[in-house]
Amino acid sequence: MIEKIISQPSADVVNPLLFSMGEDVMGFLNEVQLQYPNAISFASGRPDAKYFKIEQFSECLDYFVKNSAREKGLEENIVLENLGQYNRTKGIINEEVSKYLLLDESIKAAPEDILITVGAQEAISIGITTLCDRENDVILVEDPAYIGITHFAKINDYKIESIPVIADESSIKAIEEKILEHQKKGKKVKVVYVIPDFQNPTGNSMSLANRRQLLALARLYDFVIFEDNAYGDFYYEKDKMPTLKSLDQNHNVIYLRSLSKTIYPSLRLCLMVVTQKVNVQGKIFALSDLMAKTKGYVTVNTPSIMQAMFGGLLLKNEFSLESLNAEKRAGMKEKRDQLLESLNHFFNKQTQSWAESISWNSPAGGFFLIVKVPFEITKEDVIRCAEVNKVIFTPMSFFYMDKGGENELRLAFSNVTSEEIKNGIERLSEFIKSKVRNQ
Ligand SMILES: Cc1ncc(COP(=O)(O)O)c(C=O)c1O
Repeated sequence: MIEKIISQPSADVVNPLLFSMGEDVMGFLNEVQLQYPNAISFASGRPDAKYFKIEQFSECLDYFVKNSAREKGLEENIVLENLGQYNRTKGIINEEVSKYLLLDESIKAAPEDILITVGAQEAISIGITTLCDRENDVILVEDPAYIGITHFAKINDYKIESIPVIADESSIKAIEEKILEHQKKGKKVKVVYVIPDFQNPTGNSMSLANRRQLLALARLYDFVIFEDNAYGDFYYEKDKMPTLKSLDQNHNVIYLRSLSKTIYPSLRLCLMVVTQKVNVQGKIFALSDLMAKTKGYVTVNTPSIMQAMFGGLLLKNEFSLESLNAEKRAGMKEKRDQLLESLNHFFNKQTQSWAESISWNSPAGGFFLIVKVPFEITKEDVIRCAEVNKVIFTPMSFFYMDKGGENELRLAFSNVTSEEIKNGIERLSEFIKSKVRNQ
């Protein structure tokens, strides 16, 4: 019987929402990358492994253990044994993280306002599960969107709707219109999810004026902003902009600070900052405690050994990662610059008339750049470009909730070398040239 069910999955033995989510486009890209291993891939936004320096993390663990033993007056082996145990749901390095957030990000959060989660993915899951009612609440998400939130909401049947990526004042107005539209239908916009710094997939940075306007709107209509900051350390133009959370005087922002891009993804750590208090039937709760309750039902606690490694890194660096990040930031800026230079060279509008209709943005940070082309990009194009031109990109339509991005492609430049960027863009120009000419 079990064999039969497993060998014949159908909508009545598994969650039918799994099948209503459309195609697994990311699975498709992984397949293409596996099938054409010699192609240069601009598809995935993986961080560059040369900055992981994994070998240093056993030292960080050791440092954390020695420090805890000294501070708590315990034997080191007892501290180690404790790391192997079940642990506090909110985390074991909250004191250290609180100092780091203040020093590097000007965010004031007491240790008990912080949850150390298993990546931003778990923080999204805990945040939405704790706050949202499937029937009455609506989640607004910048579209095109990071699939981590859209797919989570869809598979769990939460109401999710698109708003434009916040690039000007009209996007703020669009949010207000959506809120009022839902109010009329008796629904509440409970959460607005944004990536102010170097949005995935567009590379957009939210201006300071728009940050303030969004906060004012949240105050006025009483919604929670989920600020997803996975790329904020990778700024290439000037100093980093203040995060929404650091500007948030009214406690409207829940801050999700993934360490996957800053440190490395297999650490699976995110710093979730929840400073709100909530009144539930006349009783006041710290929202972070309610989030911790939900987390207890999801992952129980985040692996303590990974937390200890990061805690050790913070202790060794006196709670600031600024100097450690400088090298990574410079390396990634070089890649961004190389990409812009290669695009200017191989899509030179002065010397090649077919290139006149091609344009691209110039992201001020992050891992992604968007190219606009005068034709619709299909999955067949991705396969043909990988096979013939030996280069892989992501069609932007993969990131839209419904329609959009048909004439755009995303180039992730984080996990390719400068040489690969040069060669890859030359190859991409050959592909695009042939498409434009055959139109
Ligand atoms: C916007 C955004 N948030 C978060 C993450 C990372 O999530 P996690 O911390 O679960 O690895 C990514 C990775 O691609 C991302 O693009």
